[in-house]
Amino acid sequence: MRQKIIAGNWKMNTDLTYAQELVTNILSYTKINQSKVIFFPPFPFIQAVSALTTNEQNTFTGAQNISQFEKGAYTGEVNADMLCSVGVQYVLVGHSERREYFAEDDMILIQKIQRSLDEGLKVIFCCGESLDIRNSGQHESYVIHQIENVLGTLTSDSMNAISIAYEPIWAIGTGMTASPEQAQDMHAVIRKTIGKLFGEPISNQISILYGGSLKAGNAESLFSQNDIDGGLIGGASLLATEFSDIIQTMEKLLE
Ligand code: PGA
Repeated sequence: MRQKIIAGNWKMNTDLTYAQELVTNILSYTKINQSKVIFFPPFPFIQAVSALTTNEQNTFTGAQNISQFEKGAYTGEVNADMLCSVGVQYVLVGHSERREYFAEDDMILIQKIQRSLDEGLKVIFCCGESLDIRNSGQHESYVIHQIENVLGTLTSDSMNAISIAYEPIWAIGTGMTASPEQAQDMHAVIRKTIGKLFGEPISNQISILYGGSLKAGNAESLFSQNDIDGGLIGGASLLATEFSDIIQTMEKLLE
């Protein structure tokens, strides 16, 4: 069976006290038996969060960003070695907010993934279309290109360190979740694309998460879809009860 993943992308939210309480509460409310849970706190709180997750089963700490450079005179940047040294195991690459606000293009994303893989970090690669693209009916070819342009440059061997998050931009932070059918259709397209690039064993095994206004109330209908292997959750990951309910929903489906 494919690995199921529930990931919390905190974005630029929380402070140190809130971050520690959030993780402590979630871990006390949930029993994580079969899925993997990954917290993506802001950089300054990674070490504190990682100290809380390191001895917990199936629980990991990730970074929301990584430098494409190895080391040196890049003021303000954080490299792969630094992340590894504070207990990070996963990195987000290609989130639409980074593509849009920080001008991260395919070339930069490829470099970021390469740096992550070189240091043994696992990557959640994000893709997804804007509302304009969906309304024009080009959403499938757009997402296929996002996958081909970036993941298409990798070797088959490196694909076991990659998961994908499909996050339609129109659903991020808007309360407008993709319907389970819309999400399933795109996940199937993504899986087929991975199959074409790397073969069926890899496409059958890769975890594809849904992201975009995922919450406790819609988690079950989304997670029940054949090609949806979990979620990348923003807003709802900042509330301990809400995020715990999402984890429990996945755990129940796996029983
Ligand atoms: P959201 O964000 O759950 O708040 O829509 C998801 C994301 O951007 O990862």
